[in-house]
Amino acid sequence: MKKEGTHFEAVADILNKRVSMRRFKEQPLREEDVQWVIEGARRAPTAGNMMLYSILLVTDPAKKLILSESCDHQPFIAKAPLVMVFVADYQRWFDYYEASGVKDYCQKTGKRFKGPDEGDLFLACSDALIAAQNSVIAAEARGIASCYIGDIMENYERHRELLNLPPWAFPIAMLCLGYYPEGERPSPRSRFESKYIVFKEAYKKLSPDELKAMFQEEEKSFSQNNPFKAENLGQWMYARKTGSDFAEEMARSVRKALKNWQGESIL
Ligand SMILES: Cc1cc2nc3c(=O)[nH]c(=O)nc-3n(C[C@H](O)[C@H](O)[C@H](O)COP(=O)(O)O)c2cc1C
Repeated sequence: MKKEGTHFEAVADILNKRVSMRRFKEQPLREEDVQWVIEGARRAPTAGNMMLYSILLVTDPAKKLILSESCDHQPFIAKAPLVMVFVADYQRWFDYYEASGVKDYCQKTGKRFKGPDEGDLFLACSDALIAAQNSVIAAEARGIASCYIGDIMENYERHRELLNLPPWAFPIAMLCLGYYPEGERPSPRSRFESKYIVFKEAYKKLSPDELKAMFQEEEKSFSQNNPFKAENLGQWMYARKTGSDFAEEMARSVRKALKNWQGESIL
């Protein structure tokens, strides 16, 4: 399968073997490995080459312990040798704009000097997430396991204080990283077939029959005996994910953060 001068096999190996790991070898990451993962992030595509993100490296056990609680009570976070927080960051650019006299420039040219808005936030989140995923792949190539933590979007006020985040810096993703434990390589998890996910030219809403077929495999593992009194997989997933307490906290937290991203005039 390997073509002359290409890396098909190596890339396929990395993509196909990667799994989210929630257990790690009890060993700090070597400095050269940390730098490798950071370089992976830095080489990621970034909108306008602006690098609208910051990366926070957290190894302080006390801080990891707090994060393990504040990110929906996931104790394994405290045991990860390295935690990386990916921050959608426009603060740096606005500090630079201010230092560059953009306010005066706007006054002279009749432009409005606006703070970052919702579009800027989404773009910065794109940058931060693409950098995070490049880190995951770079890490995997070096035998370093990882797991995303989406719950870093919760408890905005608490995380701002803990991580010293200014108003135009939003923590969009967190990664737990560490070496794979000896001999432990869980099998990759299944995915929906691409026919349900990939559409030619335009979006296609799935019919009830297609939805049924799409979830057929997953539904086999559903148990009626569950604490949510859910009678099927859809009800169970809604109770655990979309309609859960953590989702409600995430919405509250993001709404609070969004107040800083309204593109208000800077006077
Ligand atoms: C945005 C995002 C947020 C996630 N948040 C968590 C999390 O808070 N806790 C966790 O254990 N796994 C989390 N995961 C990992 C997913 O559960 C995992 O990717 C999914 O079950 C598929 O498994 P795989 O990565 O091993 O293929 C997250 C993944 C993503 C992409």
